[in-house]
Amino acid sequence: MTNIKIAPSILTADFTKLDEEIQSVLDAGADYIHVDVMDGQFVPNISFGVPIVESIRRAFPEAFLDVHLMIVQPGHFVEAFCKAGASHITLHLESDTPERIAEALAAARDLGMRTGLSIKPATPAEALEPWLEGLDMVLVMTVEPGFGAQPFMFDQMPKISAIRARLDQVNPSCDIEVDGGIKPDTAPIAIRAGANVLVAGSAVFGHDDRAGIIRTLRGE
Ligand code: DX5
Ligand code: ZN
Repeated sequence: MTNIKIAPSILTADFTKLDEEIQSVLDAGADYIHVDVMDGQFVPNISFGVPIVESIRRAFPEAFLDVHLMIVQPGHFVEAFCKAGASHITLHLESDTPERIAEALAAARDLGMRTGLSIKPATPAEALEPWLEGLDMVLVMTVEPGFGAQPFMFDQMPKISAIRARLDQVNPSCDIEVDGGIKPDTAPIAIRAGANVLVAGSAVFGHDDRAGIIRTLRGE
């Protein structure tokens, strides 16, 4: 059986006690800490940036920091997020020209980070075709990026299956992460479609029994 990883998104954590929030999900068995960076341009919301990643890295030297950049021209910030301590960086295919996306991904790899490429709900699977071979992860959005706690978009499942089928041919070790609306009822659907890394914001941080919810999401 596939090994499912759970990546709690700190977007819905209580920022006044972020260290306790992160510690609690790590203790509860979270595999990654998902960090949603938003610039108010690529998405209609602003979250946080480089200093938050720096602080988290200082407090949690061993944590896997899965940084999801929802910002325009992400290449300008790849080095800063790497220096701040990102383990993995995901850019949006829609956030710049193909040339600059390629440069940004190459820069991230040269700096030793794992790389991912994300697509919004309206972007078809085929758009990823030229990129699949070099990636560590594909991130399929199951909500319009920008906010936590939105309803899961079931219509994205065929896209996940199509991407998984192509990855199995050209880059079998590449992960598929799914982000948005993941809850106990939607997690198994995303897993069946082919996702193996699940981002969950409100489902995890809105729940007192974090170990219990993480086990449930993982399908245990
Ligand atoms: C949305 C973010 C998500 C979000 C998920 O733009 O990328 O990571 O925090 O939140 P939930 O799990 O609450 O839908
Ligand atoms: Zn995200």
